[in-house]
Amino acid sequence: MSASAAPALTLPTPEDTRDLGRRLAGVLRPGDLVVLTGPLGAGKTVVVRGIGDGLGVRGAVVSPTFVIARVHRAGRPGGVPLVHVDAYRLGSLDEVDDLDLDVDTATAVTAVEWGAGLVEQLADTHLEITLERDEASETRRAELRPVGGDWADRLRKLG
Ligand SMILES: Nc1ncnc2c1ncn2[C@@H]1O[C@H](COP(=O)(O)OP(=O)(O)OP(=O)(O)O)[C@@H](O)[C@H]1O
Ligand SMILES: [Mg+2]
Repeated sequence: MSASAAPALTLPTPEDTRDLGRRLAGVLRPGDLVVLTGPLGAGKTVVVRGIGDGLGVRGAVVSPTFVIARVHRAGRPGGVPLVHVDAYRLGSLDEVDDLDLDVDTATAVTAVEWGAGLVEQLADTHLEITLERDEASETRRAELRPVGGDWADRLRKLG
């Protein structure tokens, strides 16, 4: 598994952050794992909301504070479902396995908040998104780090 240099993006508004998710959805495939890191309020859920928009899944993507994982079914036949996980309170990988989700992650895109160091073993390759918050403004900065697979190629195709 190799990690390549991370392209960095400036995201001035929440809509820019959501739009990053929408654009990402255009290069996502079933079985993909996207791991989001960054402090509270950094915009991790906003990115996942954009991914949900782009995939056209059902149900609003909200902060999964009281549930560890939520499955968003495909909104159309042949569409790709989205599994949204908040690993904040998960202690170990065993617990991720124990979630016993009602969907096969090989057929879905899985986006995990707070999953760095925990869930990467669920897939051979993944995309890591690190969000930073500028205290002085609402601007966010995103770093996209491709880990293995063809993620680097796919990021180059990002619209
Ligand atoms: N440029 C920006 N990009 C994203 N969110 C922004 C931006 N500017 C302001 N915000 C606000 O910051 C908040 C980000 O919330 P969000 O729930 O996505 O964070 P999070 O990283 O998922 O936090 P948590 O760790 O609690 O899950 C939202 O209320 C959003 O409106
Ligand atoms: Mg969140």
